[in-house]
Amino acid sequence: MKAIALMRYLPAEDPESLIDIELDIPEAQGRDLLVRVEAVSVNPVDTKIRSPKPEVEDAPKVLGWDACGIVVATGSEVSLIKEGDRVYYAGDITRPGCNAEFHLVDERIVSIAPESLSDAEAAALPLTTLTAWESLFERMHINLDGDNSQSTLLVIGGAGGVGSMAIQLASKIAGLRVIATASRPESTAWCEKMGADEVVNHHRDIASQLSELGLSDVDYILCCNDTDMHFDTMVEVIRPQGAICCIVDSKAELPMNKLKAKSVRFSWEFMFTRAKFQTADMVEQHHILSEVSRLVDEGTLSGTANQQRSPINAENLRAVHMEIEEGRTLGKIVLSGW
Ligand SMILES: NC(=O)c1ccc[n+]([C@@H]2O[C@H](COP(=O)([O-])OP(=O)(O)OC[C@H]3O[C@@H](n4cnc5c(N)ncnc54)[C@H](OP(=O)(O)O)[C@@H]3O)[C@@H](O)[C@H]2O)c1
Repeated sequence: MKAIALMRYLPAEDPESLIDIELDIPEAQGRDLLVRVEAVSVNPVDTKIRSPKPEVEDAPKVLGWDACGIVVATGSEVSLIKEGDRVYYAGDITRPGCNAEFHLVDERIVSIAPESLSDAEAAALPLTTLTAWESLFERMHINLDGDNSQSTLLVIGGAGGVGSMAIQLASKIAGLRVIATASRPESTAWCEKMGADEVVNHHRDIASQLSELGLSDVDYILCCNDTDMHFDTMVEVIRPQGAICCIVDSKAELPMNKLKAKSVRFSWEFMFTRAKFQTADMVEQHHILSEVSRLVDEGTLSGTANQQRSPINAENLRAVHMEIEEGRTLGKIVLSGW
């Protein structure tokens, strides 16, 4: 089968950073599905893993953790999904990625893809949607069934992949007032299209912009960008007894004591936790993605694919890596076809 892999960790401009190769088709066992991959999307995690370092791999390392495809074989213990199903999933960071014609994935983190979306549009959703969902409803405990109309959420980095879905989930299904951050006219417009009630600029003082909106603080903050850079702002604008969730590793030790006076709940979200540690509740990702398919097909949630390329090959993947590394992506970039 065709696959795109790396052996060395090089800048994306280098033609050797991602290479087209042939691999054997793997075999599905246990709870695994063998998926014929039709479309993939690229996330910053791919570029972070690929980023230059001296190590050299013994065997080709395949990246890619967002896919849509058709199940062509199932392991003997599979019960949630069947052969022929069209599925979408983010996958497991501890296993080979989906930048390959055929891919193995545990059925507990997979769901039937939204019928109303193309393969490419469906591949744009899983990783960012799971991250946003887990951040809002599991880490920060926003009550999906409650009345949230008096609650406010600040999404820092609203126009990226995770921000786009966090804005939609919070405003369209949980009913919060959502303030997103963006720094350019096009990213501001994108946040508004996703459902943000207001947009402030993350390169200017966020507290004073919130104050201009009549807000002295916010109940929840999801930080989808530089945790260290935005930490003091989060301390300043979070409501006493509010909640903050961060998804980007800090580079320095975080001054957590600053959150004590306000009794703020701080959490990390890592979308791969369930698969990495095979947690007892890892099937929750199957349920979340199933619910998201339903919400997309009924028209409540929209797709976030904003740029599409074809085919899935090393040249196109390298180009997308370079674009993502610029840090200005609106929504998602997807690749489809072989
Ligand atoms: N923990 C997890 O499970 C998890 C899951 C997914 C992603 N992540 C991480 O989360 C980060 C975001 O990923 P993503 O795919 O959502 O988006 P992305 O594509 O990296 O985000 C691009 C957006 O970032 C905004 N941005 C640039 N500089 C900013 C700044 N200083 N402050 C706030 N926003 C800024 C840009 O907005 P403007 O152009 O308007 O400036 C742009 O729209 C990445 O570091 C990724 O690795 C973590």
